[in-house]
This record gives sequence, structure tokens and C-alpha cells, in this order.
Amino acid sequence: MTTIKIFDTTLRDGEQSPGVNLNNLEKLEIAKQLERLGVDVMEAGFPASSQGDFDAVKKIADTISSSTVAALARANKHDIDRAWDAIKGAEKPRIHVFIATSPIHMQDKLKKTPEEVIDIAVNMVSYAKSKCDDIEFSAEDASRSELPFLADIIEKVITAGATVINLPDTVGYTTPKEYGAMFKYMKAHVKNIDQVDLSTHCHDDLGMALINSIAGVENGATQVEGTINGIGERAGNVALEEMAVTFEIRKDFYPFETNLILNEIKRTSDIISKLTGMVVPGNKSVVGRNAFAHESGIHQDGVLKNAQTYEIITPELVGVTSNSLVLGKHSGRHAFKDKIKQLGFSLDDDKTAVAFDQFKQLTDRKKEVTDDDLFVILMDVQTDIKARLQYQLKNFKVEYNSSTSPTATVSLITPGLNTIEGQGTGNGSVEALYNTIEELIEEEIQLTDFTLSSVGKGKDALAEVHVSMTVDSQPVSGRATAQDVLEASLNAFINAINRVFIIQVAEKE
Ligand code: KIV
Ligand code: ZN
Repeated sequence: MTTIKIFDTTLRDGEQSPGVNLNNLEKLEIAKQLERLGVDVMEAGFPASSQGDFDAVKKIADTISSSTVAALARANKHDIDRAWDAIKGAEKPRIHVFIATSPIHMQDKLKKTPEEVIDIAVNMVSYAKSKCDDIEFSAEDASRSELPFLADIIEKVITAGATVINLPDTVGYTTPKEYGAMFKYMKAHVKNIDQVDLSTHCHDDLGMALINSIAGVENGATQVEGTINGIGERAGNVALEEMAVTFEIRKDFYPFETNLILNEIKRTSDIISKLTGMVVPGNKSVVGRNAFAHESGIHQDGVLKNAQTYEIITPELVGVTSNSLVLGKHSGRHAFKDKIKQLGFSLDDDKTAVAFDQFKQLTDRKKEVTDDDLFVILMDVQTDIKARLQYQLKNFKVEYNSSTSPTATVSLITPGLNTIEGQGTGNGSVEALYNTIEELIEEEIQLTDFTLSSVGKGKDALAEVHVSMTVDSQPVSGRATAQDVLEASLNAFINAINRVFIIQVAEKE
């Protein structure tokens, strides 16, 4: 068995998914879980892109110890300096330098000749190497690059100090045969290729990211880059959980394994789905809600007789547990603290008190409090950043009947601590609430996406709402959970607006 290194880019390529906008505590929470999952490398972000990204990468680099922490940089000194400043505190830092190598990107985007691109790549890899031992070089759009040119630039950047060579299928265009052949070609034509790890990086535009990544591995790649739940630019990246579970389930066929702790997969998927607002489709391989559900009578009968008749992956393998009833109305602080630990959270005393309070409020309204409910409460409390300036909901009311439009009344406490109140209407109750807030506050708001889902099952399940919007042209997302759909909708909207204050404060500091 050859061990294939897993390079997770959920926090960088995944964060580039439309509508995804994580705060620093959310990024840190994801990073900690990726470490628990056992990823060999996590790409924490692109520090030159904003002060917020720099801060998040730095915080992650200073916290994570067992995984390598990588930061992305274009092939220029400024980006490399920012990347290094952000990750130099890491136990195992890596600078990831990239430049495009396909004719279309070099001519039309970079406006550089192939010779100029080679010069820049070599100079910038050696500049990065003067700071950090571990340097990954990515030839962006490698799958549409000319093979002899690609071999030439790769050989030169390895001589300049690159330790990992990544060959991305940036636009998700390649086929397994072509992608595999590219790796084979590099193995045969680049004389120093055995000094480095070769890496795949596949996007899923044609639904071939997994099979292309596997083709890369079969032809010499020893690192696979991807994201959890397959999130990422456009159609996303290869879903790492699918890769790892494929190698496990088909170890009779593939001589490869990964270091991932497979039973941490479900929890990782849940955390990422919740914090990014990118809901996992029910039929998604490995982690979808229906991945282990057997609906037809014939299948159910077969599974009862022998689970392996229709079940190739057991839920336990990826950490799916039954949603057990946990604590009730009379549970005390001690039991609550034990449960926090069991669910893998570590909250300080103040946050534990806030979470306990929310749990108690929930037990007044909900008969059964499940692990799923607690998970949401704990994750919300753990990742909540209170801006010094922010809007707070004081009260709201919605009135309607089947023959009139809903009318909402909302009162808010402003960042200046004044109370403002207004009324508005809309075609639906949520729209009425949102229209009212838009009229009440000075910020210019454009809602771009709204999703509502339930946490667990049953009439009394919690409602979870994610919104994406622009506030004064700044893209932000917000989320909230409540037992009432309207309350969750309103709080998600206010949460998104308040995130702008958090970003503004981070940028000033
Ligand atoms: O898809 C791509 O080419 C990338 C590079 C920056 C590695 O994400
Ligand atoms: Zn990518």
C-alpha cells in the first residue's frame, strides 16, 4: 500500500465558493476539525488577498500542530512575504506559489511569454525557499498546458527548491486518460521528479474530479488536493471524503491508503456544511443524508438478512451515529459539561454559561433535545464573534391572514445604542421582516440567497437559516438557528449585517 498525502483546501479553494464567507473563529473551528480528521496538509487561506484572510491564516498557523499549514501566494514577492508572515509561526509551514502555464492563460491573462513565466516561477520559488523549507509550486491550468513546456518549468522549479509539484485541472476539463498521461509524462521526462511529491488538484465541472484524481495517483501522484463535501470554485473540487473512502472500500483493487481518520468524516462534513451554509445534498456520496437509507422493500429485506447485500459502506465507518436523545429539562450543568466534551467541543467558562442558558431555553420549548440540537447550539456559541458595534434584535411581530399581505414590526438596538422601530410589508412574512429592516437601517442591502433547513426531524425540529447578501456592496453571509422559522430568518439577516462591522474592525486593526 502506498500512503497518499491529503492536502485539504476547504479554507482556501472551498472558501472561494460563491456565497461562502467565514469569520475567523469559524475558520479556526474548521482547521481544528481538519486536524482531527488527520489531513496531512491544510491550506489555510490566501494571506495577500485581505487583512481578514491574513489574520485567519496566522491564527490557524499558530494553533495547528500536527498538520502542515500552507498559505497560497501568486508568484510575486509581496504575496510570498504576506504568506510567510502569516505562517511562519506554524510547526510545519508551507508556502504554495502558483503561476499559470497554459498558452491561453500566459498570453491572455498574464500577457507574458513562456520564457518570462519560467523566469518568474524560478525566481519566486527560490525567493520563497529563502524563507521556508517546504515549497509547493502549482502550474495553474496544467491540464491545458503543453507537456514539454510543463516538464521544462517543473524541472527548473525543482532545481530552485520546490518540494511539491501540483498539476491542477483548474477548469475541470480533463479526462482520466489525459490527466493520468500528464503525470506519466512528467515521471518520464523530468529528471529530478523523484525528489518531490507530485500532486493532483481537480475541479468537478464535468463531474470527473474523483476519477481524474485517482488517475493521477495511479500514474505517480503522492498527494491529492481537494475539499470536504467537494465545495469550491464553480462546481467545486474533488470531495476528499469520497477519495479516502474509495481507497478504503476498494482496497482489494487500489493499492493506496490515506492517513484520514475515517470516522471523523461525518462530523467534519457537518461542521463545514453548517458553517459555510453549503447544504450537503441528500444523495451525496459518503456523507449525504440518504447515503445509508434503504427505501425499497426489496433492499430493506436484503439488508435485514445480510447488510452487505446492499450496503457497501457502514454508517459507523464514516462516523454516522444514531441521533441519540441526550439531555432533558432537568439535566444539570455537570451533565451538560460532560456532553460538551463528548461532542468534541472545548468551550471556556463564559461560552459554556451562554450555551447552557440556550440549552435550558430550548428544553422549555422542545420535548427532546438531541445531539444534533446541541451540536448547533455549541457551534453557534463557539464561533460567535460579537462586534463592538452591532445591531441587536429587541422585538418583532408579524401579522397576516390568508387574504392580506403580511405586515412586520421590528425594533432594533443600533450600534449607537438607540432603539429604532419600523413597520413594513412583503409578499411573505420573511420578506416583510427583511423589507422592514432595510427601511430601518442606513446600510444598503441586497439579499442574494436564502436557505432554510431543519436540524433533525419532527415538528419541533430547530430551523436553521443561511443568508448571503451584500451590505454596502460587501459580500457577507449570516446564519441563525431558532425553533421558530421567522425568528431564525430574522436573526440570520441581522447576523450577516453585523459581520460587516466585524470585518471593518479586523481591517482597521
Ligand atoms: O485550481 C487551481 O488551479 C488552483 C491553484 C491556485 C492551485 O486552485
Ligand atoms: Zn483550484
